[in-house]
Amino acid sequence: MSITNRNNINRRDFIKATTAFIGGLIGITIGLPTIAYLLSPSLRKTEDESVVDLGPPDKYPIGIPTLFEFTRTKVNGWERTGLSYGVFVLRQTEKDVRVFSDICTHLACRVSWHPDQQHYISPCHDGHFNIVGNNVSGPPPCPLDEFATKIENGNLYIQLPAFKRTT
Ligand code: FES
Repeated sequence: MSITNRNNINRRDFIKATTAFIGGLIGITIGLPTIAYLLSPSLRKTEDESVVDLGPPDKYPIGIPTLFEFTRTKVNGWERTGLSYGVFVLRQTEKDVRVFSDICTHLACRVSWHPDQQHYISPCHDGHFNIVGNNVSGPPPCPLDEFATKIENGNLYIQLPAFKRTT
């Protein structure tokens, strides 16, 4: 009698253990890839398209800051953010090109080029920058940010993000 009971309990335990094992195996088989799929974007490094093609340099007139606008999508995990950029391309000579951000260094209004004054002017608080982006009057505390440039295969490229300059 006691041997039979012991066998029944053992069989019951065996079935329980087997069921738990198979259940766990199914859970791992289905659950791990699902969890990996859900978490992978948030574990991925922030990506952005950091090199921007501005086209052939000779489309920018020498000595006249020319606005170039573009958008980029920043991907951070599941979050995708569209960012719009404006840059001023200043070709000082045939091969010497500088590119400035159009974001005012005071409170981030967008500056525009005023050929009559030879200044970039921020409309918000009348901040002025000279042709090479140095702050010359008004509240801006420092020059316009600048982008690293390179000319490759006949095209002008800038590297994002812009770098800060000091006066
Ligand atoms: S935001 Fe440009 S001067 Fe204030």
